[in-house]
Amino acid sequence: MSEDVLKKVISHAKEYGFIFQSSEIYDGLSATYDYGQNGIALKNNIKEYWWKSMVQLHENIVGIDAAIFMHPTTWKASGHVDAFNDPLIDNKDSKKRYRADVLVEDYCAKIETKIDKEVEKAAKRFGDSFDKEMFLKTNPRVLEYQKEIETALSRLAKSLTDNDLEDVKKLIEELGIADPISGSRNWTDVRQFNLMFGTKLGSTADTATDLYLRPETAQGIFVNFLNVQRTGRMKIPFGIAQIGKAFRNEIVARQFIFRMREFEQMELQFFVAPNTEMEFYEKWKQTRLQWHLNLGMGEENYRFHDHEKLAHYANAAADIEFNFPFGFKELEGIHSRTDFDLKQHQEFSGKKLQYFDSERNESYIPYVVETSIGLDRMFLALLSKGLKEEQLPDGTERTVLKITPALAPVKAAILPLIKKDGLPEIAEKIFDDLKLDFLVEYDEKDSIGKRYRRHDAIGTPFCITIDHDTLADDSVTIRERDSMEQKRVKITEIHSIMSKEVSMTSLLKNLL
Ligand code: GAP
Repeated sequence: MSEDVLKKVISHAKEYGFIFQSSEIYDGLSATYDYGQNGIALKNNIKEYWWKSMVQLHENIVGIDAAIFMHPTTWKASGHVDAFNDPLIDNKDSKKRYRADVLVEDYCAKIETKIDKEVEKAAKRFGDSFDKEMFLKTNPRVLEYQKEIETALSRLAKSLTDNDLEDVKKLIEELGIADPISGSRNWTDVRQFNLMFGTKLGSTADTATDLYLRPETAQGIFVNFLNVQRTGRMKIPFGIAQIGKAFRNEIVARQFIFRMREFEQMELQFFVAPNTEMEFYEKWKQTRLQWHLNLGMGEENYRFHDHEKLAHYANAAADIEFNFPFGFKELEGIHSRTDFDLKQHQEFSGKKLQYFDSERNESYIPYVVETSIGLDRMFLALLSKGLKEEQLPDGTERTVLKITPALAPVKAAILPLIKKDGLPEIAEKIFDDLKLDFLVEYDEKDSIGKRYRRHDAIGTPFCITIDHDTLADDSVTIRERDSMEQKRVKITEIHSIMSKEVSMTSLLKNLL
């Protein structure tokens, strides 16, 4: 069922110019994708929403754009050379490679599904008197399932923290986890695999320097911490935001743009005084959740997942998980990164990375709270939740992309009913007037019904039709995407309707 939804999303994304397989004419390159004409428009709108909400709405946050290539010592200092690994395991029969931790997590997700089924059955049995919370706390079978999950996950967390890969394999064997494709339980040992892509800088083999493609944008912020603080006269607490590409040689890159080898991150590093980091960590968790909820995709589709196994740099971490077609998965990470990164860079570079706090009258290395969201995952969240197949009252069907209008790739379609009688000229004038402020499309091909469907499918919030009455009354028909309601409005009113309904400003206002 969920696979069907994902398949539909993938084929829709291709058919309507959102996402293409990279180098498709050469049969593609695995886990890399290109964004098409509508994809880039949607992606840019997500970026704008994030950037403005962070940089423009917060007086104490500024942005930067650091290079993808960084001095190789950066990655030694950050711990990525030694610790940015995933535990991999191969199945000897199918020759398929998996992430050992994901095998255990997927096993637990299956048990979660069993709990959901128990809840569903009980809800049917007890009807209105059903108390879900009480049921989850008391039903013996559910309690047993929960215990099973807890035991498996905490053992996994412990063995990964201790780098006890033998125990990870033992756990997989004890749980009886089989290769999801072949059903075989014939596993190799678990090994660590570094996810960074290496490359070389320099023209001759003997003088070339080994470089890495950055696996996160965050380090570009850390190494610029003092540059920005001094030139911007920033006072703690303050943040530096960045949007940019990151690269990871993922062991298993599946699920379309959910896990890619080249992807984009939108990251904030928020610098705070020592011992205040937990307060800001909690605050940023809530601020980021509100940013998501503001998009109207339903509170029930988000949840926090607090980490048991912490990354090498964190003292607290949570994911905002989203209900993707394949279940709840990480969309964004919020990490309390302590003073780990700045301290490491200070040590490895020999340059002081300290801040003088005039209120405390002391110098210190700031602590950092990070929010990090994958732009491509956000794109997938919007596309998969927004795409709907609807039955219409006249018995026909339509495919419609219901995304919040400010993020829609095209804001309005300008449609002359026919290609003559002076209608195209009026339509072009409306188009020219709107194009200064909005991405609009002029479309005169095919029947009006077909043109409506095309724009429903890419999520265009408004279709503006110019007909023969327009010649007499200077009015047009404006059709709203979701309700399909049509209203007659004066041409002079179009711009202000659009400003109110589709502008980024109206979306951002709700965050204040
Ligand atoms: N600087 C912290 C950091 O990079 P992360 O949890 O590894 O933390 C942050 O990544 C976010 O980047 C994730 O929540 C996810 O949205 C996105 N992300 C990570 N790996 C990805 C991949 N292979 N493909 C697409 N998005 C990815």
